[in-house]
Amino acid sequence: MSVIGLPDLDHEATLDPQIQPLPEGVDVTKPPRSIFLTGATGFVAAYVLADLIDRTQATIYALVRASNEAAGMERIRKNLEHYRLRCPEMATRIKPVAGDLKQPLFGLPQAEFNHLAEEIDVIFHVGSKLSYIAPYHFLKDANVGGTQETLRLATTCRPKPYHFVSSLGILLNYKKLEGGHEEDELDAEKCPEVGYFQTKYVAERVVRIARARGIPVTIHRIGLIVGDSERGYSNTDDFVARILIGCIQAGYGPDIRNAMDMTPVDFIARAIVYLAFQPASLGHVFHLLNPAPITWGGIIDIVNEAGYRVEKLPFHHWIQTIEEHADPDENPLHPLLPFFHISFAGRMLGINENAYHALGTADTQAALAGSGIHCPPVDEALINTFLMRFVDAGRLHPAPQWATSAP
Ligand SMILES: NC(=O)c1ccc[n+]([C@@H]2O[C@H](COP(=O)([O-])OP(=O)(O)OC[C@H]3O[C@@H](n4cnc5c(N)ncnc54)[C@H](OP(=O)(O)O)[C@@H]3O)[C@@H](O)[C@H]2O)c1
Repeated sequence: MSVIGLPDLDHEATLDPQIQPLPEGVDVTKPPRSIFLTGATGFVAAYVLADLIDRTQATIYALVRASNEAAGMERIRKNLEHYRLRCPEMATRIKPVAGDLKQPLFGLPQAEFNHLAEEIDVIFHVGSKLSYIAPYHFLKDANVGGTQETLRLATTCRPKPYHFVSSLGILLNYKKLEGGHEEDELDAEKCPEVGYFQTKYVAERVVRIARARGIPVTIHRIGLIVGDSERGYSNTDDFVARILIGCIQAGYGPDIRNAMDMTPVDFIARAIVYLAFQPASLGHVFHLLNPAPITWGGIIDIVNEAGYRVEKLPFHHWIQTIEEHADPDENPLHPLLPFFHISFAGRMLGINENAYHALGTADTQAALAGSGIHCPPVDEALINTFLMRFVDAGRLHPAPQWATSAP
């Protein structure tokens, strides 16, 4: 800790010296028999899970917070159903592991952990505690401790390639032309003073310590995720959904003209799974964001075209109006309001700079070339699909004109 109580991020990043590479090499081209996945009750990992089921024959061992395997399976099943992800072979292909990222060995007895380590061929560490308002120390055990424990699994009994989902948010203080390319050295100064991003920064540093020790890792930094590009299902509690629904409910939206990132979750999952099975990926960092620009001002225009009435206001006026008018019990924007007062939130929303679009993606584009995996734009049609899904989910009232014609 530094004297003013803020975490010294580089100092916080340590990796148990017992976590060391094993002498045998890894072969990522060999079809895996067993995959370990964290976060399968969440948004991104649901799509990663569905993709792994589709693209491999492997059994997926999914770490899940639950009292037992059956309860864990039920949580995973409900989550897949929420996103309408089909998994007919669920009972045979998914094996829940009831455990907690916060605990050493995920809270498993040593023998069970070792047995798991013996079974697993490859690890996807996607799970993380997300909160834009919780302090660093509240999130540290799950996000930093959990990363160490998954790396422990990667290096116990036999070596396993390890794929880590990080966040482009840890680079959000980069300005255009300053850097922020995939292989640039991490810089704590570029990480916003937001506990969640700080834990992601430290966790990534921990993974980089593992890489420097010779452990085979890949790092997938992802931007701001939105629902899937084909069917529009999304996490209605995430950042973009809360802003979109909250603006419509309140009748006020931010008039922001700079581009921000919105990356469909199905692209993210496909890219992570594809890259993970390319031998050339090992040891590398990838930036998964949407090259097609979108602005909040443009989104509010689409929302108005769809038949809602949302007045555009300059950013600070918008925040003040939401604070004054939005019902704290009803409006999903309310819990985000303290976050909007942190200066970097402006960068995330595209107020000051095209923050995410300042970051480099050349290595990632080269690695995905020829894969057929492209990030689709978030356009008017897709925004309208998201709106309809929010209505279907009971999170948004239909636009008045929808009674007579669908958008
Ligand atoms: N969403 C975004 O826009 C975004 C952007 C950049 C990076 N990311 C990264 O992408 C990854 C997935 O994010 P997401 O949006 O899918 O998050 P999410 O929907 O909140 O899912 C988080 C997952 O992590 C699990 N988890 C949290 N704490 C845990 C613990 N102590 N033990 C075991 N599991 C735990 C959750 O389990 P429970 O269901 O039990 O809570 C859930 O399955 C994260 O690493 C995140 O940092 C996300």
